[in-house]
Amino acid sequence: MNLSSSPRLMIVSDLDHTMVDHHDPENKSLLRFNALWAAEFSHDSLLVFSTGRSPTLYKELRREKPLLTPGITILSVGTEIMYGDSMIPDSGWEHELDKGWDRSIVMEVASEMPQLTFQSATEQRPHKVSFSVDRSQAPEIMKVLDDRLKARGLEVKLIHSGGQDLDVLPIGASKGHALSYLLKKFEAEGKSPLQTMVCGDSGNDAELFAVPGVYGSMVGNAMEELINWYNENARDNQKIFRATETCASGIIQGLQHFGIDPCVSPRDLEMDGDFVAGHKDGHQAIAREIVLHQLLCEKWLKGEVECSDHVFEILKAPVAPDSTLIGAWGVDIQLANAIEMLRPLHGLHKDKRFWIWVDRIRVTNIGKDTWLAKFDKWQHYGWFFFFSVSLLVSKHRFFSRWRAQLSYNNRYFPVPGTSFC
Ligand code: GLC
Ligand code: MG
Repeated sequence: MNLSSSPRLMIVSDLDHTMVDHHDPENKSLLRFNALWAAEFSHDSLLVFSTGRSPTLYKELRREKPLLTPGITILSVGTEIMYGDSMIPDSGWEHELDKGWDRSIVMEVASEMPQLTFQSATEQRPHKVSFSVDRSQAPEIMKVLDDRLKARGLEVKLIHSGGQDLDVLPIGASKGHALSYLLKKFEAEGKSPLQTMVCGDSGNDAELFAVPGVYGSMVGNAMEELINWYNENARDNQKIFRATETCASGIIQGLQHFGIDPCVSPRDLEMDGDFVAGHKDGHQAIAREIVLHQLLCEKWLKGEVECSDHVFEILKAPVAPDSTLIGAWGVDIQLANAIEMLRPLHGLHKDKRFWIWVDRIRVTNIGKDTWLAKFDKWQHYGWFFFFSVSLLVSKHRFFSRWRAQLSYNNRYFPVPGTSFC
């Protein structure tokens, strides 16, 4: 992790039906959240994804949806914790989970129960055995399985999620236990987050909401099993908010409910006024300006802003008149001219599935009034276009260098060439 001090905010969010709305091909709520996080929180806060998915299915989701890169990824219902962009596993947590766990007993007992159907091989993990069950029979099957495992001397955690999924985990495992482990680790390092908010929609998220001291936003589309858990265990807990908005919009609503600022997504801003670059400097202001600038490019190309000189001037404003754009293939042109090329393209992607999002913004102060900003820019037209951008920001003027790579539905496509800076 590259945070040198306590994160201002840590968001721990589930993915399917929380961060990701599988019913929205436009990914509206996810893109709203991404813009908010990149602009206002990425410089001093920590994003954690906590999913039931295995590494294989997690990577699949990242190829399909415009997800940000989290600081920490918790996979397989809290049984695998990984750090940073390169997802380095926490072996200490694996050793914790080994205590009292015997996977072979679970396999033996389960194979004698025809009501349990094993999920795919990718979802069977060292500390997780997963099945599909009939929704109506789930409580009874869980009881029988638990009794039989106990009779064999094994205490496990059984988690019923999404109606049909049943996970068998070590007794000390769950998304909530993984979070408690992380919080303890942060505390030992003197880097406890100032605030933590957890977000989820289904049964495997329940224990996240039970972690002491955290805020929680249960998204508006929360499933029956989570709502039941809430009614039985957490009705009086003022720190848990039941959002009315769904998926990632429910996360933003949670921030608003708990007064965690800034909580207005740049995607919700009105064009006039709000989009005009501020004259502050520093990491947050630069991140914000990068996000607003890319968003305005998107809105221009989609014809969602007025086609006027006034708007176009706002688009050009942050670019230094004498700055150069260096592409991957060595082409060297005036950045201002490159932006000028967008002028006749107003509305080119009108009503199309086109969007731009920014990930992994890293801003470093390299001198008086000078910053180096690096970020990944993604454009989606049905396929992804990836840019790795380095900007020199001097008194709020952008000088740009970038590398680009076309990728067909794959955000991991390797970018050739050596690093620019
Ligand atoms: C994800 C996992 C699955 C698990 C479910 C509920 O869908 O892929 O294995 O059972 O989450 O935790
Ligand atoms: Mg979910």
